[in-house]
Amino acid sequence: MGKLAASILAADFANLGAQVALVEPHVDVFHIDVMDGHFVPPITLGGVVVKSIRPHTTRTFHGHLMIENPEAQFDDLAEAGLDVVSFHLEAVTDAGPLIRKARGGGMGVGLTINMETPVEDLFPYLDEIDDVMLMSIRPGWSGQELNPAVFDRVEAVRAELDRRGLEADVEVDGGITLENARRAMDAGASVLVAASAIFWASDPAGAARELAEIAGEGGP
Ligand code: DX5
Ligand code: ZN
Repeated sequence: MGKLAASILAADFANLGAQVALVEPHVDVFHIDVMDGHFVPPITLGGVVVKSIRPHTTRTFHGHLMIENPEAQFDDLAEAGLDVVSFHLEAVTDAGPLIRKARGGGMGVGLTINMETPVEDLFPYLDEIDDVMLMSIRPGWSGQELNPAVFDRVEAVRAELDRRGLEADVEVDGGITLENARRAMDAGASVLVAASAIFWASDPAGAARELAEIAGEGGP
């Protein structure tokens, strides 16, 4: 059964606790986009926000670090209540030591890559990680359109995981909608990330419920 991750990037930050509570019944994970103004142009969230919403839900918190020098944030984020941390392969020279450092801090660990990065670059790390997050947009902003080239990339990662008997999650992040969600699951995703499709909908809880149904019907 696949899972739904609600990315709070598109939420109303003036009412963040209420927004989390509104969609919580339908989501498995809250996806928290951490941006530093260097790896991507915008600046967003960090440990302070993770800590402030932690008491509002027991759901998994998954941090998506779009930052240079990601390891500098691991301790702060773990202490704030982050459960799983993903960082970009493009932001580091050798992911191995960082994967081990994050795990040593008590978090699950994932790697994420942009559309331009060959999926094969992830393969040396697959048996050390819990999660592969494939970007389907240019990272930095909610509300962009999914690049359908991501579906072949999902298939390639899922095939390699299967070939090696590994069970890491495969996530698609960016531009997920009710129209394309099933295609992502059929390609081999196990987690759908959605921000604007949930929080910009007139009925965010209803949108989350529908996406969660699609995710739940799919997956490996
Ligand atoms: C963008 C973020 C995504 C974003 C997705 O850099 O990593 O998680 O919030 O937003 P939507 O679902 O609106 O494309
Ligand atoms: Zn993200």
